[in-house]
Amino acid sequence: MIRLDEPLKLLNTFGLDVSSRLFFAFSAEESLRSLWKTNLLQLTSPLVLGGGSNILFTRNYHGLILKNNIPGRELIKETSAHVWVRFGAGEPWQDCVQFAIANHWGGLENLSLIPGSIGAAPVQNIGAYGVELKDCFVELSAFDLVSGKVRTFDQSDCAFGYRDSIFKREGKGRYCILSVTLRLNKNHEFHTQYGDISTMLDSMGVKTLSIKAVSEAVMAIRRSKLPDPDVLGNCGSFFKNPVVDASHFELLKKQFPDIRSFPAGEGKVKVPAGWLIEADGWKGKRVGNTGCHQQQALVLVNYGGATGQEVADHAQRIVASVEAHFGIRLETEVNII
Ligand code: EPU
Repeated sequence: MIRLDEPLKLLNTFGLDVSSRLFFAFSAEESLRSLWKTNLLQLTSPLVLGGGSNILFTRNYHGLILKNNIPGRELIKETSAHVWVRFGAGEPWQDCVQFAIANHWGGLENLSLIPGSIGAAPVQNIGAYGVELKDCFVELSAFDLVSGKVRTFDQSDCAFGYRDSIFKREGKGRYCILSVTLRLNKNHEFHTQYGDISTMLDSMGVKTLSIKAVSEAVMAIRRSKLPDPDVLGNCGSFFKNPVVDASHFELLKKQFPDIRSFPAGEGKVKVPAGWLIEADGWKGKRVGNTGCHQQQALVLVNYGGATGQEVADHAQRIVASVEAHFGIRLETEVNII
């Protein structure tokens, strides 16, 4: 059933008080197909909403929001080393991580506690602590909102990049992801090379590594740095970490000897945006009802009552200021609507 003027405050983790002119929640592909047959999808501008954890609404949405609630966790194949699990796109990401860990299937533990739904995970190739979704991704099925057909996308079709996929580019707005299949490991490989994880495991007194211990370490780090959206509205990292030419970085390093970096392939360097924003004086600074978080400058927060436009304006101030200071133009990771 289509609902009118649906409040979205509880459906976006920035906690913005906006509404959608038209709203359709569905838990099965058939419901979406029935809607497609009415031609409404062709007449309105549909926007698929998952967990609402990577979206900034700057105003009420005047089109149709499709809220994906498709459930499901199905073991579809098993060998001595791996399992293939198909998840319904509406499942909360963290429930799937916990489901995998409870079954002793490895691969998702470094991605613990990322907000959002399974269906949104491939859109921006979610990543944390040295692991990305693409590392265990097999395929997804998606409903083409234009043709009404269901299409399968494998790894190469998705064209994954750093916080990027075809669904943020050519496929933007065209597909509604229905299910995602992941290949998980029975023989666990641990990714603890990311500095903070080994330090946290040591401080937790962990002697024997397990996927559960890695997951707990990741959750402890996230809880210490990243604000809980139920307490302080936010969408995690607001900007991507910029990648610059090594020659540009060398010049910056001369001027700012403390600048941090990670290798990013041939002749390229990734610079933590959090470092740039902090060095520019924005960390913990509140402007009106928004600002950069105290513990993580890359996270913009809603202190209560912020409008999306206020957050977007603040983001623009930060972009201009970082560009003037370092000659690097930050790109947003969050979808601004
Ligand atoms: N840093 C600062 N000041 C800050 C924040 C960071 O100087 O306020 C510097 C520190 O030097 C730190 C480095 O930046 O060593 C990296 O910081 P951190 O480990 O917190 O990670 P990040 O690069 O800021 C990325 C992801 C996060 C992910 C973490 C851990 C992006 C845009 N963000 O953040 O993802 O959790 O690494 O893997 O790539 C998200 O996408 O929403 C997200 C939270």
